[in-house]
Amino acid sequence: MAKIGLFYGSNTGKTEAIAYQIKDEFDKHGAGLVEVHNIGSATKDQMLQYNYLIMGIPTWNTGELQDDWDVFLPNFREMNMSGKQVAIFGLGDQNGYGFNFLDAAGILANEVLLTGATLFGLWSNEKYQFNESKAKQDEYFLCLGVDQEGQENLTPERIKQWVKSVKAEFGI
Ligand SMILES: Cc1cc2nc3c(=O)[nH]c(=O)nc-3n(C[C@H](O)[C@H](O)[C@H](O)COP(=O)(O)O)c2cc1C
Repeated sequence: MAKIGLFYGSNTGKTEAIAYQIKDEFDKHGAGLVEVHNIGSATKDQMLQYNYLIMGIPTWNTGELQDDWDVFLPNFREMNMSGKQVAIFGLGDQNGYGFNFLDAAGILANEVLLTGATLFGLWSNEKYQFNESKAKQDEYFLCLGVDQEGQENLTPERIKQWVKSVKAEFGI
């Protein structure tokens, strides 16, 4: 089994595409490190098999969770994830939804922390323009922020840097 389980939810395919780009970036450091799962058909037991987890989530409907994550989220209340290392990437549109930018990733991060897991992959929010975000903690996001509407050109380099630092933080 691969070391890292990557679980994503996606309504229109953008988060799915980024999930595979992240897997490809990890593969450059050692093939087969990451296994990708759609959260829409994943179970909590599948998730609990991994000690290293990456979760990808877009924000929908002005500050709401993506549909499949919305269904999965109550599972976390029954999951003990202490000892697990988790990093999150969020998709959002800072120009269109500047008061709710990446909110879903922030909601997910807080649920994950309640399971006892440790969160890695925090990311500077300096190069984004937004008003409010549930993913914001001081000068960081609790996730990699990906904006395919407003800053698509920055995404490949962001993924490269984030994967490098998550890999180092995970210690793998
Ligand atoms: C109706 C609608 C509502 C959205 N609401 C938000 C929002 O509140 N915050 C945000 O950051 N992005 C918001 N977005 C942008 C999506 O998160 C973005 O398009 C994302 O890339 C979609 O990912 P997916 O294709 O994987 O579903 C919204 C987009 C749409 C169409």
